Amino acid sequence: MPLLAHHVPRPAQTPAGTTLVIDRPDDWHLHLRDGEELKAVLPHTAAQFHRAIIMPNLKPPVTTTALALAYRKRILEARPAGSDFDPLMTLYLTDNTPADEIHRAKASGVVHAVKLYPAGATTNSDSGVTDLKHTYKALEAMQEAGMVLAIHGEVTDRDIDVFDREKVFIDEKLIPLRRDFPALRVVFEHITTKDAADYVATAEGEIAATITAHHLLYNRNALFQGGIRPHYYCLPVLKRELHRQSLLEAATSGKPRYFLGTDSAPHAMGDKESDCGCAGCYTALHALELYATAFEAVGRLDRLEGFASHFGPDFYRLPRNAGKVRLHRQDWSIPTALPYGDRIVVPLAHGETLGWRFEASLQTNDASR
Ligand code: NCD
Ligand code: ZN
Repeated sequence: MPLLAHHVPRPAQTPAGTTLVIDRPDDWHLHLRDGEELKAVLPHTAAQFHRAIIMPNLKPPVTTTALALAYRKRILEARPAGSDFDPLMTLYLTDNTPADEIHRAKASGVVHAVKLYPAGATTNSDSGVTDLKHTYKALEAMQEAGMVLAIHGEVTDRDIDVFDREKVFIDEKLIPLRRDFPALRVVFEHITTKDAADYVATAEGEIAATITAHHLLYNRNALFQGGIRPHYYCLPVLKRELHRQSLLEAATSGKPRYFLGTDSAPHAMGDKESDCGCAGCYTALHALELYATAFEAVGRLDRLEGFASHFGPDFYRLPRNAGKVRLHRQDWSIPTALPYGDRIVVPLAHGETLGWRFEASLQTNDASR
C-alpha cells in the first residue's frame, strides 16, 4: 500500500542527504495511556517533541486537577533518562465538572486545557458530556480564566452518517456554543473536513485547530485498500480526497490557526485487529517524518516549522522552544510491530518506506538558556 493516498505521487524533489533543521516542535494532541503502555510509548514522543498536550481519556478519566497532577507525576517518572519532556495536562469535562475545579486547574499551572468529548464519541468517552447546557458553569469559569477548551468535534447521534458528524457538530453545537461564549478560547481538535478548515479560517474570536499527519496523508480509501485496514481507522474517521486536500492547504498555508497535533493513539494489535476494532493510529514513533512527507508532497517544507513549532505555543500562550531538531532526507523502513507492555502496537504505515528520518534534538531548552 502506498504511503500517500494512492493517486498522489510520492514526492522525490528533495535529494537524499538533504537536511531540514527546525525549531524544536511540540505535539498539541497526544494519547500517552498509563502504566506499562505509557512506558512503552513515551520515549517516542519525548525523542521528537519538547511538550505535548496530554489527553485525559484514561479509564477512569482524568476529571480533576488532583488526578491530572498524579498522572503528570507518572509521566515524568516514565521519561527516559535525561529527557526534559514536559507534559501539558488536560481535564476531562463531564456534565458535573464544577466551576471550582476549573479554578483549581488554572491555579495548578500544569493544566493547560479542558477536553470536551461528546459522550460516546470515541475511545473511553463514556463519561463525556451528554448535553452542553450541563457544562455552562464550567465553561463560564473557563472563559473567565482564559482556559482553553479542546473539542472533539463530532456529534454522536447514530442517525447521522459517520462521515457527516464533524460538519453537523459545527452547525448544531460549535456555532451556538461559541455564540454563548464568544471569549472562550477553543481548539477544534484533529479536524478532518473542508467544513472544519473553512470554519476555523473565518470564525471570529480565539479559535485554532490541530491537524494529524494521517489526515494529511490519507483519504478514506486507505481504510479499504484491498481489504479492511484496521490500523488506518481512527476517529474522526478519514474522509474523502477533497477534504484531505483542504486540510493540506490549511496546514501548509502558514496561517497560525492551524498547528500540529498527532492524535497518536496506541492500541494493542489485537484490540485493533478484532471483531470491533478500536479507533486510533499510532504515529508517535515517526510523527515529524510523516508531517514532513505531507508538507514535501505539496512543496511546502518551508512552512513545517511554523506549523510544528511556533503556532501551537503562541496559541496556548507559552514560550516557543529554544532548541532545534534535524530531519534527514533518507529512506528507512517503518517497523511492523513495537513492544507495548506485554503486547505489541503496530505503527501507522508499518512496513513502508519513509523518505525522512528524524535525527534528535540538537540542543535542549535548558542548554540554550
Ligand atoms: C483516540 C483514543 O484511542 O484514545 N482515538 C482516536 O481514534 N483518535 C480518542 C480520540 O482522540 O478520539
Ligand atoms: Zn485524540
